[in-house]
Amino acid sequence: MSIIYDPKDKTITLQTLNTTYQMEITPLNILRHLYYGRRIPAASQAALMPALDIGYTPNPYELRVERDFSRDIQPSEYSAANTGDFRVAALDARDARGRYGDDLRYAGHAITPGKYALEGLPCAGGDEDSCDTLSVTLRDAATGLEVELLYGVYEAEDVITRAARIRNGGEARVTLERAASMTLDMPYGDWQMIHFHGRHAMERQMERADLIHGLQSIGSSRGASSHHHNPFVILCDREAGEECGECLGVMPVYSGSHRTDVEVDQLGGVRVVSGISPELFSWTLEPGETFTAPEALLAFTHEGLGALSRRYHRFIRRHIIKSAWNRRPRPVLINNWEATYFDFDSDKLLEIARRAADMGVELLVLDDGWFGQRCDDNRALGDWTVNADKLRGGLDRLIERVNALGLRFGIWMEPEMVSEDSDLYRAHPDWALTVPGRRPTMGRNQLVLDMGREDVRSYLYDTIAALLSNHHIEYVKWDMNRSMTDIYSRILPPERQGEAGHRYMLGVYELLERLTDAFPEVLWEGCAGGGGRFDAGMLRYFPQIWLSDDTDALERLTIQHGSTYGYPVSTMGAHVSACPNHQTGRTVPLGTRAVVAMSGTFGYELDPARLTDAERAQVRDQIARFKGWYDLLQNGDYYRLTVPGADRCMAWEQVSADRSEALVSLVITHTVPNTRGVRLRLRGLDPEARYRLDALALEGCTAHSRCQLRPGQDIFSGAALMYAGVLLPQLYGDYPSAQLHFTRV
Ligand code: GLA
Repeated sequence: MSIIYDPKDKTITLQTLNTTYQMEITPLNILRHLYYGRRIPAASQAALMPALDIGYTPNPYELRVERDFSRDIQPSEYSAANTGDFRVAALDARDARGRYGDDLRYAGHAITPGKYALEGLPCAGGDEDSCDTLSVTLRDAATGLEVELLYGVYEAEDVITRAARIRNGGEARVTLERAASMTLDMPYGDWQMIHFHGRHAMERQMERADLIHGLQSIGSSRGASSHHHNPFVILCDREAGEECGECLGVMPVYSGSHRTDVEVDQLGGVRVVSGISPELFSWTLEPGETFTAPEALLAFTHEGLGALSRRYHRFIRRHIIKSAWNRRPRPVLINNWEATYFDFDSDKLLEIARRAADMGVELLVLDDGWFGQRCDDNRALGDWTVNADKLRGGLDRLIERVNALGLRFGIWMEPEMVSEDSDLYRAHPDWALTVPGRRPTMGRNQLVLDMGREDVRSYLYDTIAALLSNHHIEYVKWDMNRSMTDIYSRILPPERQGEAGHRYMLGVYELLERLTDAFPEVLWEGCAGGGGRFDAGMLRYFPQIWLSDDTDALERLTIQHGSTYGYPVSTMGAHVSACPNHQTGRTVPLGTRAVVAMSGTFGYELDPARLTDAERAQVRDQIARFKGWYDLLQNGDYYRLTVPGADRCMAWEQVSADRSEALVSLVITHTVPNTRGVRLRLRGLDPEARYRLDALALEGCTAHSRCQLRPGQDIFSGAALMYAGVLLPQLYGDYPSAQLHFTRV
């Protein structure tokens, strides 16, 4: 059992292979956090938190003359407002009698094998062999409010999950103004914070910064996890790099408005509070009702950022993604969006499919524009019936012909949205989120459906289920193309309007749960204007998510780099698109575009008719190469070898679990004259083993590039490749690239 309760010391210790987490039930029944970090024995670490009397820190009533215990400086497992802890609170509640705050005291705990489930929310799975659950109940004696803290301990994966259930056990109505998933206090250490900010078409830009005293927050109030702040924060020590240093990750399993607060307190301690954003949020609990706060995934390692990432990759693949496609080879796809935008008909699509099939592509994705009067992005969202002018003969005729070419068929939808100019909106204007008496703010000239409504969800379920049952559709791209504003639900009373945003998310999850259960063989790809909802919550249902609307391979290097801190390659939708690139106007060699897209779920998004014969042959080779290395690329252990901007290249590596194979990919982002090639130190190899350079692919280099490496012949020791590095060819030209495949001999 990975959870140990010591009745003498009153500690509860969570042990994973390499980490320890400990809490203590103090004599006053205040649940105190003691430790999270490298694995240590389960003995009490109470001495780490000695009694301290610091001026102006209030004390619990029972202590009075003894002033050496204050909630204001002691580490907490779940912080609540208005009871002597002035740092950021996870719980901010008031009851109908006007009582703000909760004096939470320990009321009991239970340890059970297996993993808890969360009502209506995505969370990690796991059986009795992979996980144990700790549930600790805290109670406020005055209001009767109860908080059940949940901990899932995944021993082998070194991951601890957290969540909370808040129950109104009193007699008065309670309103939650904030109900975060967790508090984590780190009273020791000198931490920096890494987070992933961005904007549309430029998601997950990694930023690392010193912490300042006071609060720093990352989050979203857009109703989606957002392009702007991914729900993932890492604290790491100053020296932490890819291969060394302490790092701690906090990843909410949530796709709506979220917030992670990081506060440095008066004594230099760091508090993290993470969960649903309190902005525009409140939740009413009648007596006996329960609110469930989403899960967060915690991981700690002293072995650097690379090890932390691999921990998340493994965990997400093992316990978050439930799709059968998780482990299956995904088809190489072609998407018609950047090839045609709205300007297509069946003939054009079939022409794309025919040429794509000839190049080895396996799936045609019909993107936006196939339904209703959708000739541009101003209309018809909600009218999910085929546009017979564009698809003459209907969907089945098209699918049959696509299938006859040997391709599967997939389709785009944006179910959560409605256009004003649509039959759906004309029939149900009240289904959209709008504030009565006010004109709504528009985004892409569309409105957001109130997914908190049962009637909206059943309409969508019936519509989508009919589409999938009546036609041979094997893939769905589920898009969501605007931020949420004017959040007001016509079915909620005034005092419950603060619930509309989270009820929306619960509705989305319920619909996705039903659909993915009913159609488990469909490959579902998530999307939100690219990567605007790329998070662990969505990954529960979508084994892959379109990473960004920016398909420029050079920009993608940074976006993919940032995304790999938390998410595995097999989840990142990535396509080779046409050049000059539609977002940046940049031209990157076709070969380099493929090298970048291969470290994602590989596909194309261009019109093959516009490629030359030579380019089509090149694509054929790319697909063959991708398939040959599929397992390594998609399932291998991922190592970042460079950081954006610091080198004149970006390089990364995938290594097989048994370390018998490694694939290094490199793109020169800035070519300089008269120099040797880049020297790259590899990672994750067996230092005792010898590796042969089996294959070398050079892409997009000019004739005067020089290559000294001899694929098939050169043999290196694993240690030398890691400690000295391999000297790469001298590559010249605009954005040349290389892939080096090593096999243990
Ligand atoms: C979003 C997606 C794109 C494309 C368009 C269609 O922007 O991210 O890939 O599907 O919508 O409107």
